[in-house]
Amino acid sequence: MQKIQIDLHERSYCVLTGNNILQEVGKIISKYKVSKNVALISSEHVTKLYKNIVQKSLTENGYKVHFIKMPSGEKNKNFETVRYLYDKILDLNFDRSSIIIALGGGVLGDTVGFVAATIFRGIELIQIPTTLLSQVDSSIGGKVGINHERGKNLVGAFYQPKVVIVDPNVLRTLGLRERVSGFGEIIKYGIIKDKIFTNFLLENYKDILLLKNMDYMNYAISRSIEIKSAIVSADEKENSLRMVLNFGHTIGHAIEVTEGYGKFAHGEAVIVGMCAAIKLSADVGNFDSNEADKLINNLQKIPIVPSVNHLDEDKMLEAMYHDKKVKNGKIRFVLLKKIGETEIKDDVSDKQIIEVINWIKELKFVTSI
Ligand SMILES: NC(=O)c1ccc[n+]([C@@H]2O[C@H](COP(=O)([O-])OP(=O)(O)OC[C@H]3O[C@@H](n4cnc5c(N)ncnc54)[C@H](O)[C@@H]3O)[C@@H](O)[C@H]2O)c1
Ligand SMILES: [Zn+2]
Repeated sequence: MQKIQIDLHERSYCVLTGNNILQEVGKIISKYKVSKNVALISSEHVTKLYKNIVQKSLTENGYKVHFIKMPSGEKNKNFETVRYLYDKILDLNFDRSSIIIALGGGVLGDTVGFVAATIFRGIELIQIPTTLLSQVDSSIGGKVGINHERGKNLVGAFYQPKVVIVDPNVLRTLGLRERVSGFGEIIKYGIIKDKIFTNFLLENYKDILLLKNMDYMNYAISRSIEIKSAIVSADEKENSLRMVLNFGHTIGHAIEVTEGYGKFAHGEAVIVGMCAAIKLSADVGNFDSNEADKLINNLQKIPIVPSVNHLDEDKMLEAMYHDKKVKNGKIRFVLLKKIGETEIKDDVSDKQIIEVINWIKELKFVTSI
């Protein structure tokens, strides 16, 4: 088992990673002096797969487990689900010393995290993320929340868990496309902060994505958590430093919005968005163009299922101006100076943005491996 410390003063906590640690959840949390009264919340599919393992481990360690099933899917990351979960928890006669365990992907972790942050003004939360994206991204950093009819993640809070428990073995039941989605964020961490890690990922992407080498997958996950946690520790409430995590997301989000959420998996959109950001880094920034070409070629080996050649550049530009991260009407790009080092640019012209979108439409990603 590996332990990664997230330094956030009195809100510091650990992420524990290791194959099959799901069976040890009860033993692990016993060390944290939390209440024996637990609400275990999971989604439909994850319940069938992993609820029994977690529940058994908790019961064996003396916990009283109340199980709650939450509907899955982005469409259920909303007020209705939050209200449903509040009602279920209030039925349990819980108090502030009880704890909530979120067992599932990012949708579940964000929603349950928001419930934990707000019910009784906050009760202890333990995250057990089960998708690659939630293991390396959404469960780290404390952002919790739900969608509003007017946009994604518009209602939420910063709320740090007591501990995060990551078992890469659960990724065996996850489809390849979902794994690619998480891998998009993993490769992002490499490109923005660590050249050696980037090279490792580009050399071994097949073994990692196809779960042929679990040591590599473990390393990819734990190094990602280290990188994200270092950034988050330096900028808990997303003031400036945390902006680098947005690498590839300016265009990636625009793809998701204009194509409709779900058509591109998040990580797929981010991989395409990173290609655009790398191209811009060479064209209008300070990144070496040979290096940029090499990196873009390598990224096209990662399978992206939907085609990019019909993207609508005008709609995408409009979407970028409506993004909640736009400040003073300026679209900000995280660009590369070199692999592992970034700069922020907010003076990329609309013409240059349109040009780079037209350029990504010509890219040829593989669709399977
Ligand atoms: N809080 C943050 O900082 C942050 C960061 C990135 C993304 N997010 C959010 O994360 C969400 C996306 O999360 P996601 O990609 O994990 O999707 P998801 O939670 O919808 O999970 C995808 C599907 O996989 C199923 N699943 C989960 N674990 C499984 C497993 N081990 N085996 C088989 N099936 C499994 C789920 O039930 C679901 O149907 C979005 O709502 C996004 O806004 C939040
Ligand atoms: Zn992302």
